[in-house]
Order: sequence, then C-alpha cells, then structure tokens
Amino acid sequence: MGKFLVEGQRSLSGKVSINGAKNSALKLMVATLLGHGKFTLENVPHITDVYTMVGVLEALGVYISFDSRLMHLDVSSLQGQTPQKLARSMRASVQVMGPLLSRLGWVEVAKPGGCNIGTRPLDIHLLGLEQMGATIDVTDDTFVAWAPRGLKGADITFRYPSVGATENIMMAAAIAKGSTVIRNAAREPEILDIQEFLNSMGAKVKGAGTSVITIEGVHELGSTDFTVMPDRIEAGTYLLAFLMSGGNGTVAGAIPEHLESLLDLISSMGANIEVHQGEISISSPKRLEPFNILTSPYPGFPTDLQPQMVALATQAHGKSELLEAVFDQRFGYTIELMKLGAQIGQKGKTLLVDGPARLQGASISAGDLRAGAALVLAALAADGQSTICGVEHIDRGYESIEKRLTQIGAKIQRIEE
Ligand code: EPZ
Repeated sequence: MGKFLVEGQRSLSGKVSINGAKNSALKLMVATLLGHGKFTLENVPHITDVYTMVGVLEALGVYISFDSRLMHLDVSSLQGQTPQKLARSMRASVQVMGPLLSRLGWVEVAKPGGCNIGTRPLDIHLLGLEQMGATIDVTDDTFVAWAPRGLKGADITFRYPSVGATENIMMAAAIAKGSTVIRNAAREPEILDIQEFLNSMGAKVKGAGTSVITIEGVHELGSTDFTVMPDRIEAGTYLLAFLMSGGNGTVAGAIPEHLESLLDLISSMGANIEVHQGEISISSPKRLEPFNILTSPYPGFPTDLQPQMVALATQAHGKSELLEAVFDQRFGYTIELMKLGAQIGQKGKTLLVDGPARLQGASISAGDLRAGAALVLAALAADGQSTICGVEHIDRGYESIEKRLTQIGAKIQRIEE
C-alpha cells in the first residue's frame, strides 16, 4: 500500500514518452496460449496488471521472462485452470476462456474482479462461445466451459460492441473449425493490434477496426515476435496533465489518430495542439472553455478518459456536462474531487461540473485505476499539498507515474507504507 504526496500549482513542461498499451499487451500475452514455441513481446509496460497476467499464464504452464522492455514467452504444456485468487484480481483474466477452450477443449476461470466501475457482466463473451459449440456451467464463483469436440465457426452478432468479448471470440475462432463472423464488433485500436498479432502467428483474421470481423479457423498456430502498440489512454492522461497545470509540453510515441476525439475536444476548449512526426505538442490557453461529452465505444470519446476530463472540467470557465454511457458506476471518484473543492453535481448518468474551482490540497483516496489518475491531475492544480492513498490502483495501468510527472516538473513523491 502506498500514497503520493503532491505539491500543486506547478506548471508542467517538457516531453513524456508513452509506454505500450496495457489493454493490448494483456490480450497479446493471452493470445500466445493459442500458439506453439517461443514469443517475444516488445514495449510491454511494467505495470501490475501485466505482472498479474504473468502469474496467470505461468500457472497455466507458460514460461515467461520479462526484462526492461522485452517479454519472452514459451508456450509448452498447458493446463486449463486459472488460479482463482489471481483471476479474481483482474477482469482481463477472463480473456483466457476463448484460447484455452479452443486449444484444450475445456477451461475453468474464476469470475473476475477488476475495477469497481460497474457490474461488468460477461454475457456477450459466454453467448458467443456457446454459439461456437461450448457448454458453460456458471457456479457461484467460477465459469467452467468445455467443448470436447472443439469449437466450430459461427455467425455471431453482439448486442453491444464489447472490447473483451470481441477479443475473446477472435482468439477462440482462430483455431476453431470453419469460419466465424463477429457482427457489431468493437472497433478499438487494440482490436487491430490483436488481429495483426494473431495473423503473424498464422491466423486468418480480417476486418479489425470495422464492425464486422471475419476469422477463418486454421489447424494450428505458431509463434511470433511483436511490438505492442502505444497506450492511447496513458497518452491522453499526460496531455491532460499539461493542461491541468496550465503548462505546455509534448507527448511522444503515441499514435495521434487514436486520440482524435480527445484532441478535437481539448482544441475546442482552447488548447493549442500540434502534431509532428508522431509527437503531440500541447499548450494551455489562458482560459479553458467548458464542454459536453458522451462516452461511447471507439471512435467515440473513451470512457477511460472520463474521470480525467472531469478533473479538467473543474478548471474550465463555465458548466461542463459529461454523460458516462459505457459503464454504469464510473462516478465514484467525484466525492474525492469534491474534497479538493470541485463543484460537481450528478443527474443520473450525467455529471455537471461548475468551473473554475479553486482547488485546495487535501487527503484523498483512489478507488480504481482511471479515477486515481484523475485525482493525481486534480492535485496538480490544487493549491498546497495533497495526499493520495490507494496508489496501487494507479500502478495497475501507469508505469512509474510519479517519476514521469517529476520529469516534466511536478512535485510528487511516493511514500511506501
Ligand atoms: C475494456 O474492458 C478495457 N479493459 C477497459 O479499460 C475499457 O474501459 C473498456 O474495454 C471499454 O473500452 C481492458 O481491455 C483490459 P467492454 P472490457 O466489454 O472489455 C458491458 C481501463 O481502465 N458488457 O467493452 O471489460 C460492460 O458491463 C479499463 O483500462 C456486458 O454487458 O469492456 C460495460 O458496461 C477499464 N456484457 C460495457 O459493456 C459483456 O459480456 C463495455 O464493456 C461484456 C461487456
């Protein structure tokens, strides 16, 4: 357990480089379960969710070594039961269902935990696997699925473009018998990453980035070396950190196209954005304009930047409205922002933020990953010192956030308890 001490009201400047994407790396690691031989993954971030996934895969029989930036994985004898404790600690562990079911013919996973941002059912995953011939037993705390004669291709229409379900079914279908079509598939950039990864292993997947993905099952998959795409949410978080502090800076290593909705929004708020050779430079306006956003599946505004945008809204001159339409409980952190002096009201799934609010340092607590990032941003703008506890949530998705913020001028210190 640890906490951050943040001295606010320091204007940030300089350049921060972006790590590999958490929400791609975790799935590529899982996709190795479909293959044979040795894999090398480059640009994997050193974050606790990756370490948790290493634990899950090692328990399944994968040999993994992970140094400064390279992860080596050797898929040898697999067994189909994920360790309960580990699986419960991270929702992404449910991603092993598709590959193991397809590979071994059975899998048992604990009902996963993850962020406390809503009910997060798995019906779309399970329905898709059942349509491919799986039988799934749901007990109090586990899912047991089996397909003794292997999975077969199916024409599947999702009721909602679930990111995880799209990835799960893509992986299951890669070595299923026959062809699979996923309609109303998620279009996030991470889906394109896993398509490229699977195809580099010998799979036949196409359509990622569109709503219709087609997978032609092959008999066997090999191994590959691959570089994880940059983390668009981490990149957005640092761009907002510059704005929150009234500073100017550059985010390097991101793919600007992945951040279009954010860049459009912060430009409309008055920020000056320049994109040059993959680097995004931002300079803060004298006056931040308020905004209205609705979070939605890609290419809409990403729900994973909603908390950070609420923090920024506290500094905008006027009323901002944010409608969270992806998750059903992603406002828990607003009570912590109000301890700093934020003026926030809620009407159903919409937050109303009055700005600009003079934020005062206080003791606050992070309850989940992106909420934690929002609290750090708000503390950067607050007058005086803030103490943020629950930083283990932030470490799940941000590598050494305090070191990287210090490099661009923040006064933030980690206190281990
Ligand atoms: C992925 O979660 C990301 N996590 C999330 O990032 C991200 O917020 C989300 O996609 C949306 O972009 C990882 O990739 C590890 P979904 P996932 O399935 O796959 C409902 C972060 O901070 N739903 O698209 O779980 C679900 O309840 C995390 O990095 C069902 O109802 O997202 C939610 O309301 C947070 N039934 C909505 O769909 C299902 O079977 C979106 O979920 C599946 C999902």
